[in-house]
Amino acid sequence: KKILILNGPNLNLLGVREKSIYGSQDFLSYFEELKKEFSAVELHYFQSNHEGALIDKIHEVGFSFDGIVFNAGAYTHTSVALGDAIAAVTTSVIEVHISNVHKREAFRHHSYLAQNCVGVICGFGLNSYRLGVQSFL
Ligand code: DQA
Repeated sequence: KKILILNGPNLNLLGVREKSIYGSQDFLSYFEELKKEFSAVELHYFQSNHEGALIDKIHEVGFSFDGIVFNAGAYTHTSVALGDAIAAVTTSVIEVHISNVHKREAFRHHSYLAQNCVGVICGFGLNSYRLGVQSFL
């Protein structure tokens, strides 16, 4: 199976940014662990701070991959265009968040993506991604 983990803005700073919320591990070292754990899966990773680059990636893989595990960061709460991109492709998308967004500010409670996703996983730290990948197997 081909699965893409897609990270949006500021998630390149995992391990550095707001460690009390997002933890101290950087994403690339975590991704190496995931690749070992899911060796039977073709796992891909892409991160961008740019909304359009995320949309382009969804279009690129969204008709051939088996799943996308997507943490859109703050774009989750702002981007109609990313929600539309998910609706436009045939690949199933799972929305993930490291933190429990429902425990946080009210502006993080709404997602423009969730209605077009198969499910939402949030609040399990980096484990949220692992659960997302597992749900496609
Ligand atoms: C996040 C939650 C978002 O509200 C925030 O803007 C992020 C990270 C998470 O993984 O917990 O950048 O998506």
